[in-house]
Order: sequence, then structure tokens, then C-alpha cells
Amino acid sequence: MEKTIPHIEYTKKTAQQLLAVEEPEVQGLYRLADRIRRDHMGDDVYIRGIIEFSNICANNCLYCGIRAGNGKVARYTLSADEILETASAMATGHQMTVVLQSGETPALGDEVLGGIIRRIKKETPLAVTVSVGNRPRETYRYWKECGMDRYLLRFETSDPGLFLRLHPGSTLEERLKCLNDLQDIGIQTGSGFMIGLPGETPDILAQNILLCRELDLDMIGIGPFIPHPDTPLGKERNIYDDNREMFFKTLAVLRVFNPDAHIPATTAYDAVFPGEGRDLALRRGANIFMPNNTPACHRKDYFLYPDKPGVDDPADQCLESAVARIRALGRNVGEGPGHSIKGAHVAPSTSKAVGASPSRDRSR
Ligand code: 5AD
Repeated sequence: MEKTIPHIEYTKKTAQQLLAVEEPEVQGLYRLADRIRRDHMGDDVYIRGIIEFSNICANNCLYCGIRAGNGKVARYTLSADEILETASAMATGHQMTVVLQSGETPALGDEVLGGIIRRIKKETPLAVTVSVGNRPRETYRYWKECGMDRYLLRFETSDPGLFLRLHPGSTLEERLKCLNDLQDIGIQTGSGFMIGLPGETPDILAQNILLCRELDLDMIGIGPFIPHPDTPLGKERNIYDDNREMFFKTLAVLRVFNPDAHIPATTAYDAVFPGEGRDLALRRGANIFMPNNTPACHRKDYFLYPDKPGVDDPADQCLESAVARIRALGRNVGEGPGHSIKGAHVAPSTSKAVGASPSRDRSR
């Protein structure tokens, strides 16, 4: 399988067949994913520093530790100055993207966040990614005017029924509409899903991978579902608890189906495989690393799931350890912002991207 890249039919059947491979073929699947990653994305691993600027959330997603109904969480919101200070400290050359993430409520207000985006773009060389949930199209457009480069919004599961059960009062259709708005406006768009949610079937897992491909995403973040004790799913298990290889098989198949998307080695892999999950992910299809830059005093309050790594590390240690891990794999730390290579619109101030073009052809 690994010698030449085989002709791949991007169907659900292919995805299911690849997800079903066992040892020793699974090693061939990993080598194939790694080769496709290298051929399309190169050996550079881009580092995106994440600032979890608020854990206030109006939603009650059944799996998430910062859901509104979890009264045990000490809620916080960083001030604009704190965010600016944290972002400025990041711009050392190794991480040229800041990811601003929060719970899903306008904790700061859309205009305040717009002002912060503007200031980051003016005062630092960083590319700005925002990840704050479903918002009206006009808000996305406004943030783009402020300089926002990218947006992350996972669809979590491609099954409408399961989506509705997990997200009370919210539909998959609404989520997909938001993703469509973002792409239409010309924002580099990331989405993705959790692996092994209760109620997920092999068919849904394969469909999740296909949906990523259909959406033609610039970035795709996935990771295992990890039960959080203070949520309604706290007593559930990941359905692949006894077959954790599935987390990596899914990542590898995702890469096979999405050769030119940025795919992060997400922190959830380290939570399940302490100290090595993200390294293994980088060797099996991933090409992005996202160290936590949230000020240390708030990290323990942003527990979407238990065993999140890096909670006691100051930001610079997280960066240092990211750089060391990348180099130990024989890979390079990517220089520049590491924009999408798909030709989504790239703001002129940071237009070092490969193949950037003013607008994206969605007719593919
Ligand atoms: N386990 C794994 N991932 C989770 N997320 C939220 N809660 C959990 C959990 N319990 C993921 C969701 C969300 C991202 C920010 O974190 O996919 O989109």
C-alpha cells in the first residue's frame, strides 16, 4: 500500500474499508497517510498558539465541560489588554497564528472582539483565527473586515439526529449554514468532529470523514470524545475505549481523503495517549500543532474534557516542548502564518501563503 500512492475512490465504502484494516496492514495505512501529508503539505509543522479567552457559554452541549449547566466551573473572561499582551508575547517567530477561542456566547461582545482582532493585526505580525461558535453571517463578515483570517467551527457529528441529541436546541443544518457562510465570505474555514461519541456508528464515522471532504475545508480538527464527569455523558465511555487504534486510523483516513487540508495533532490525542498522542498524530497525517497560550491562572477553568495536557506549563514551556517534539520527529517548524494552500482569500498584510488567490472557486 505504501510504495506508490494508489488510486483512491473517495467513497464511504473506501473509508469504511480503510477504517477496518487491522495489524499489520494498519501500519501501511499510517505510512500512506504520512506520505500523502508529506507530498501535499511538506515537512513543515505550523504552530498555532491558542488563547482560551473566556469559558462563559450559553449552550448545554452534552459532552462539554464548560457547558452552561456545569455549576462547578469558575467562569472567567480575559480583558482586551490581557488578550493583546498574551498575543504579543506569542509572536516570537515560531507561532505566527493566534487562535482566539471561547465558549459560545458573545462574552466580550462582537464589537469588542472585532476591536481586539483589529489591534492584534495592527500591533503584531500574527494571523488571527477565531473559534467562538455559531454566529450570524454579518458578524463573520464584520470580523473579516477587522482582519480575521480564519475560523474554526467543528460540526462534531455528521448525523443530524445525533447532533440534535448532543446539542439541545441546535441543529446540524444551522451549523452547516454557518460553515457555508464562512466559506462564502472567503474566510479560511476549519471544521471537524469527535471520534467515538455514544450513539456514533461505523457508518456515521465514515460519513464524518466524507463530509470533511465534501466541505472542502482548509483545516480539519478531530479528536477522541473524552467523557467529562460533570456532564450528562460523564458516565459514558468512548465507544472505541477498547480499540483506541481507531483514533489514529480515523486521522490517517481523514488525511487520505483530504490531502491538502491543514490537520492539527489535537490535544485530545495527548489526553488519551499521554506524552505521545500528538507525536503519533503528526506521524500519521497531521501537520499542525496548537500549544496552549492561555494565561496559566485560567487553564484549569477551561476543561472541555479531563486529562487535558499542559495545564501546569507556562506558555513558553508549551511552545518549547512543541518545537522540541516537532524537531525530534525530523520535521521543521513552519515559518510564516501557514495559511491554507487551497486558495481561500488571504488578507494582504499576511499574504505569504502558497497559492493564495483573491477568491475561491467553490464549483469544484
Ligand atoms: N471530549 C473531546 N472533545 C471535546 N470537545 C468538547 N468537549 C469534548 C470532550 N468531552 C471538543 C469539541 C469542540 C472542541 C473545541 O473541543 O469538538 O468543538
